[in-house]
Amino acid sequence: MKSAYGWQTPAPDYELTCVEPGSPMGELMRRYWQPVCTSDELRDLPRKEKLLCEEIVVFRDKKGRVGALDPHCAHRGTSLEWGRIEEGGLRCCYHGWLYDTQGQCIDMPCETEEFRTRLDVWQPAYPVMEYGGLVFV
Ligand code: FES
Repeated sequence: MKSAYGWQTPAPDYELTCVEPGSPMGELMRRYWQPVCTSDELRDLPRKEKLLCEEIVVFRDKKGRVGALDPHCAHRGTSLEWGRIEEGGLRCCYHGWLYDTQGQCIDMPCETEEFRTRLDVWQPAYPVMEYGGLVFV
């Protein structure tokens, strides 16, 4: 490929530039904390962010704990980006399942008691740390 100045543009280096899951640089980068937003950006609405080619929903519950979850609800896949922040975590906007900051489903309001006790549902979650006014995942 030629550039505007007639120089040859090198082909992209897959090993150095691709960071999706399973790629060499993606696996390397996932061994380190990655900044995703500032602490003061986490207010009363969850934030959908993209980090290393993956979407995540970051939120601070009403107890002040920060969580980072896969955006697609474990129940029917609704985006948790539209969820409601509560004292115990993030509640899905569709059927109201409530996930804590570790990803454990702690409330299923539309399900029977038997169903709730038999299922141990976990939403994929990422480790989170706040440091120096930043949120790292
Ligand atoms: S899709 Fe989230 S609770 Fe049903």
